Amino acid sequence: MILKDKVIIITGGCGLIGREIVADIKKKGGLTINADINVQTDIQNGLFNLDITNDNSIQCLVDAVYEEYGRIDGLVNSAYPRTKDWGAFFENINPESWRKNVDMQMNSCFVVCQKVLKIMEQQKEGSIVNIASIYGVVGNDFSLYEEYGGTSPAAYCAIKGGIINFTRYLASYYGKNNIRVNCVSPGGIFDKQHPSFVEKYNAKVPMRRMGNPDDIAPAVSFMLSNEAKYITGQNLVVDGGWTAI
Ligand SMILES: NC(=O)c1ccc[n+]([C@@H]2O[C@H](COP(=O)([O-])OP(=O)(O)OC[C@H]3O[C@@H](n4cnc5c(N)ncnc54)[C@H](O)[C@@H]3O)[C@@H](O)[C@H]2O)c1
Repeated sequence: MILKDKVIIITGGCGLIGREIVADIKKKGGLTINADINVQTDIQNGLFNLDITNDNSIQCLVDAVYEEYGRIDGLVNSAYPRTKDWGAFFENINPESWRKNVDMQMNSCFVVCQKVLKIMEQQKEGSIVNIASIYGVVGNDFSLYEEYGGTSPAAYCAIKGGIINFTRYLASYYGKNNIRVNCVSPGGIFDKQHPSFVEKYNAKVPMRRMGNPDDIAPAVSFMLSNEAKYITGQNLVVDGGWTAI
């Protein structure tokens, strides 16, 4: 019960990874607020309809949680908004679309952090976990996509790399307030991708398989908990060894 009675907001808590994070935090005693664009607000039952691209919506979330619980111990940023043309080949990326994705994914992460940190600063306590990616650490292996004609979005690397270093900034800025800010960076999560992608991915990764959401969630819970009380500014990569070779 390493998260007993801790009040923790998870943005994107209905997602592939987010819902496992919510479940793991609950299992470890935490009180979760799943803040996602796909839920109806029911704050007593830990649900809040959040549009992370709307600053006012973020402020309403923070106010509602503070009013209900009187504190915010943890925040996990796992919301993942993207444009319809997300995944275009580099040559074809519309600059407007690039800007929109950076705004929706990275700038929104800044706004959520800024608003939650105001509460954590008053409490002199808190832990934030930003979900980044191996593609914020290393470049893409395009050979994985060749056989089925797919690709991986260029903005993703820029956004995730940005979030990892922004995390270090926050860790440094708020360390004196007993607030920790870390990233967890998953490798590729199995989600019925094209068989040729999965086969090549498995062959490349030392543990010979893609990740599952339950590989990621315990790492997030650890970072949120007092077990990690002297860890800040770090990027915990959970990837079966992909970035180790
Ligand atoms: N799935 C992977 O292979 C993988 C690998 C590495 C990193 N990640 C990262 O993990 C995080 C979660 O990814 P996922 O695979 O669970 O994605 P997902 O698409 O399954 O879930 C994202 C969630 O965000 C919510 N969301 C979308 N727009 C929103 C908005 N405007 N406001 C609030 N919520 C919104 C969606 O409703 C959804 O529940 C992302 O940061 C992603 O980059 C995923």
